[in-house]
Amino acid sequence: MATDLYAEIVSSIAAPLDGWLVESGAEPGLSLGPPTREGAGDLAAACHRYAKALRKPPQAIAAGLAEIARAHPLVAEVEAVAGFLNLRLDWARVAEKTIPWALGDDGALGRSSALAGQKVVIEYSSPNTNKPQHLGHCRNNILGHTMATLIEAAGAEVVRVNLINDRGIHICKSMVAWRRFGAGATPESTGMKGDHLVGAFYVRFDQAFNAEYEEVHAGATDRPSKDAWFNGDSPLGQEARAMLRAWEAGDEEVHALWRMMNGWCEAGFQATYARMGVRFDHIDRESVTWKLGRELVDEGLANGTFRRLDDGAVVFDLEKLGLEGQKVVLRGDGTTLYTTQDLGTAMQRLDRFGFDQLIYVVGNEQDRHFQVLFGILTHLRPALAGRLFHLSYGMVELPDGRMKSREGNVVDADDLMDELHAGALEVCRENLPDADPGSLEATAEAIGLGGLKFFLLRYAPATTFVFDKERSIRPEGETGVYCQYAYARAGRVLERLGDLDRGITPDWAALTEEKPRAVLTALLQFPGEVRMAAVEHKPSLVTKATFEAARTFAALYNDADYRLLDAEPARQLALALLVEAVRRVLGAGLALLGIQPVEAM
Ligand code: ARG
Repeated sequence: MATDLYAEIVSSIAAPLDGWLVESGAEPGLSLGPPTREGAGDLAAACHRYAKALRKPPQAIAAGLAEIARAHPLVAEVEAVAGFLNLRLDWARVAEKTIPWALGDDGALGRSSALAGQKVVIEYSSPNTNKPQHLGHCRNNILGHTMATLIEAAGAEVVRVNLINDRGIHICKSMVAWRRFGAGATPESTGMKGDHLVGAFYVRFDQAFNAEYEEVHAGATDRPSKDAWFNGDSPLGQEARAMLRAWEAGDEEVHALWRMMNGWCEAGFQATYARMGVRFDHIDRESVTWKLGRELVDEGLANGTFRRLDDGAVVFDLEKLGLEGQKVVLRGDGTTLYTTQDLGTAMQRLDRFGFDQLIYVVGNEQDRHFQVLFGILTHLRPALAGRLFHLSYGMVELPDGRMKSREGNVVDADDLMDELHAGALEVCRENLPDADPGSLEATAEAIGLGGLKFFLLRYAPATTFVFDKERSIRPEGETGVYCQYAYARAGRVLERLGDLDRGITPDWAALTEEKPRAVLTALLQFPGEVRMAAVEHKPSLVTKATFEAARTFAALYNDADYRLLDAEPARQLALALLVEAVRRVLGAGLALLGIQPVEAM
């Protein structure tokens, strides 16, 4: 199992200090970490909170701890200042430990046992089969897939679930439009990707409906709302609703059409996922799960979770969650709702997988839904408390404003990947005029997709941000390409060095100056960041840690003092090993983020 060398070093220094504190009558748990103040060394601890227990001024405690810390073989200097203990590490010794660790099998690759023995079900993507995916889905797919990778790297068993919404009135709209206006069009006959074809009919329905609405209400002063019209006298609305009823009644013709169009749409999604490198272990479909949850209504009525109103509707009193009002889980007419279905689906997952964590990656417009859902679930099954998570994420905006799907101002996922590929290809052609076209295409794809993933992951999920296509594939700044570039450069450095004499002792002192020390620090901190990303559901910590490795390496690489080719052999070996180690960690970071490394660019 992988070791976290940094954590080991820190705790080996902290342990005897804690021992002394306990002997002197204080609680253990000294927090020794990076100092908040510049110039306070490599590790620091505040001693103020022990003053009471030890009945000594903080400065005296810091001085006492300093004496003990001084004896540690990895500590070079100690200092007690104003009640703070500051330590400087012996970086030559730290380097001597860090390099073989980073290059070894249990090294800094980001695997841990933080979630070992846990089973985690994570639901993501969950698209509707009436239109192709857009930038928002990209964020969802990539967040979910990366979280799954990180949780697996932390030792958990992961089940990746996609809940495809393949039934309902919105699906029927595309079906009606195809039947009316489609003239038998198929993906083959039109050359269109299936999800795009279905999406075109969804838009076509809307156009026809709007035209119908305008025509019927031309000149009228008292118009119904479009929703009221759709659910009332609209011929198109009636046709769509009749289609839904026929579907629910199992009408064979309607089901054949539905299967055909859903098949097209899902095949299209599959192509999008494959290109993104996103996959699932299990697919749920709402056409199968939509009736789940009904039996929970009876159970909840029996145990007092729910209450029946006079009109027969069954509700959950939101007061139980500290909210106002009621949540209907069964309508008076006996039909269920989105929440009811989600209750049933969650229970089915519990029976099927027996999860320790169930994570839903869903946009923040459903925050309230999940708050209520989790509240009801834990009333029904108290053992679920603390096991349900909504990984909520914000909207991705465009430089020219919000993404409004109704106004057609959406960035289609497939088009976006094409555009990023094209942008990257242009840059690659300039930089590598002699490369063969096939490898240029492959590099461009890696850079385009890497740029997309890195950009979408580097923001904490809760944040809303502007997606800047051009910036996402730029080799400067905090981007995927920047990290891929660092990885490629490290590879080239090592290639140019050729075979090194590894029999000599590396000059570890060459790694004690600021720039190599920064690289070592990035290597040491990488596993802890990856672990925290998995445990706290924060993939942005991995983009940061990977970028930090790339940034510190670039600073070293760009400094003439660290030119390797003509360095003296023991120094050259130490620096070369550092480059090898940082390349390995960069490769691990990119792999965790689902970003292809590139060899030349
Ligand atoms: N298909 C839904 C939508 O597009 C999201 C489903 C989220 N998952 C869930 N278990 N409720 O809004």
